[in-house]
Amino acid sequence: MISTVSALLAVSSVLSAVSAHADHAPENWRRDNTVARAALETRCGLQLTARRNKRAAQALRSVKRKRGLHGNHRMTPRQTSSNDSTCLITPEVTQGPYHILGEIVRQNITENQLGIPLEVSIDFVDISTCEPVQVWVDAWHANATGFYGGYIAETGSTLSAGGGGGGGGAPGNSSLSMSMPMSMSSFGSSMASSASTAAASATYGATSGADSTSNSMLDTAVDDNSTFLRGVFQSDTDGHLTMYSIVPGWYSGRAQHFHIKAYPQGYIASNGTFVANSTAVHTGQFFFDNETLTAVAATVPYANNSISWADRVTNEDDMWYPYQAALGYNADLDITWVGSDISDGLLGSITVGLNMSYESAELSTQYADFDVSSYAAASMLPSASLSA
Ligand SMILES: *[C@@H]1O[C@H](CO)[C@@H](O)[C@H](O)[C@H]1NC(C)=O
Ligand SMILES: *[C@@H]1O[C@H](CO)[C@@H](O)[C@H](O)[C@H]1NC(C)=O
Ligand SMILES: *[C@@H]1O[C@H](CO)[C@@H](O)[C@H](O)[C@H]1NC(C)=O
Ligand SMILES: *[C@@H]1O[C@H](CO)[C@@H](O)[C@H](O)[C@H]1NC(C)=O
Ligand SMILES: *[C@@H]1O[C@H](CO)[C@@H](O)[C@H](O)[C@H]1NC(C)=O
Ligand SMILES: *[C@@H]1O[C@H](CO)[C@@H](O)[C@H](O)[C@H]1NC(C)=O
Ligand SMILES: *[C@@H]1O[C@H](CO)[C@@H](O)[C@H](O)[C@H]1NC(C)=O
Ligand SMILES: *[C@@H]1O[C@H](CO)[C@@H](O)[C@H](O)[C@H]1NC(C)=O
Ligand SMILES: *[C@@H]1O[C@H](CO)[C@@H](O)[C@H](O)[C@H]1NC(C)=O
Ligand SMILES: *[C@@H]1O[C@H](CO)[C@@H](O)[C@H](O)[C@H]1NC(C)=O
Repeated sequence: MISTVSALLAVSSVLSAVSAHADHAPENWRRDNTVARAALETRCGLQLTARRNKRAAQALRSVKRKRGLHGNHRMTPRQTSSNDSTCLITPEVTQGPYHILGEIVRQNITENQLGIPLEVSIDFVDISTCEPVQVWVDAWHANATGFYGGYIAETGSTLSAGGGGGGGGAPGNSSLSMSMPMSMSSFGSSMASSASTAAASATYGATSGADSTSNSMLDTAVDDNSTFLRGVFQSDTDGHLTMYSIVPGWYSGRAQHFHIKAYPQGYIASNGTFVANSTAVHTGQFFFDNETLTAVAATVPYANNSISWADRVTNEDDMWYPYQAALGYNADLDITWVGSDISDGLLGSITVGLNMSYESAELSTQYADFDVSSYAAASMLPSASLSA
């Protein structure tokens, strides 16, 4: 009892020390964030890790059952990263130019996209209480060869190396400074590699990678009606969400990443799409460890990407990855192989700490545009919501 109370006091005094010194020297940010994160981890890290491991084990059993991978040598799971993927104060990172509002509410966003199956298992907790929190999660990412649904004409192979529009965060070299948040403006028009060099040695707070609220680069007009690898689903009341997809591919200027936005309030429109009814509390990107990415890259259709694997942007050279890693955060999904062959699929788990008081900017005014009736006919919409 006494130790719990003193732990709570320690956390609250650390947190108030952090907020009280919002304008202090940048090098102190790293120290304060590290201390605050350590305090939160002391308080709830073990229970969260245990909880996530339990879920991962359940998910693994379940997916093996579904795929019929019982009791043979190919079952041996491999866990490539540590148990450290607990972003107790999850850093904000840009939503990038390809966020679309009003997506279909569904748990499986794969549609017809080929790639390594990926089951993303996320636990959401409120950082002020360590309690699970129920949120709606908007997820979107590029396909195996680097195209975004809704933006086919301007992503994937149409992006030459370093070319415009690419992003997922920072579209193109010429517009780099415009697409950066204010905190990155000092990087000017430098390339991703020098941005990452700066990021690796810089000190950031949890919201340094957040979008500036006046960035028109992040409101890209939707080109087409495709909806692949996009969707919204609500976590359960225990803060847990599973989303079914494929491992994202790489594209010009970016390491592979999986975007999310989390909204406390929302509902399903009568046509089966999501309507946010509150500001998001978090915008972020998940990443993958190099060993996993290397194994994925060797498979078709990833190997068919028009940008060769040798020419891809690595995590270390990515312009946003360093934000996720700078403060001792870790937004790599903790990857477990479902079988010994990567084509059996991957489970990726993470705990995301949400600051429920934070208002995460929405820079996109773009709405999904597609023929609802043909989607309903193809069972891409949840039938329950269609009757409303
Ligand atoms: C993660 O934690 C679980 C149980 O706490 C343990 O069995 C497993 O080996 C750990 N994995 C890694 C990669 O440390
Ligand atoms: C998700 O949908 C794809 C096809 O759209 C399907 O192949 C895959 O099995 C589904 N995944 C799960 C876990 O149901
Ligand atoms: C990714 O999307 C583009 C655009 O729709 C498509 O041409 C390409 O075949 C897709 N990649 C894979 C591996 O399906
Ligand atoms: C960015 O622009 C600079 C100067 O215009 C050029 O030297 C550099 O090669 C470009 N970088 C990329 C990745 O295209
Ligand atoms: C999407 O499809 C509708 C018809 O269902 C069409 O009117 C609209 O122009 C299309 N939107 C885009 C961006 O292609
Ligand atoms: C949206 O939020 C407002 C304000 O909290 C609430 O009054 C309204 O009922 C909500 N709408 C739906 C459909 O949940
Ligand atoms: C990534 O992993 C591959 C294979 O294990 C290794 O050859 C390569 O050096 C690693 N690259 C980085 C950037 O760590
Ligand atoms: C990948 O490339 C190979 C060889 O170029 C080709 O035979 C195959 O059809 C391609 N697969 C996909 C899914 O694009
Ligand atoms: C949570 O967000 C609020 C509003 O932006 C901010 O004042 C507060 O410092 C944040 N708390 C933490 C622990 O980051
Ligand atoms: C679905 O319904 C909402 C609310 O009426 C509307 O704003 C949206 O445009 C519709 N979406 C599609 C794809 O038709």
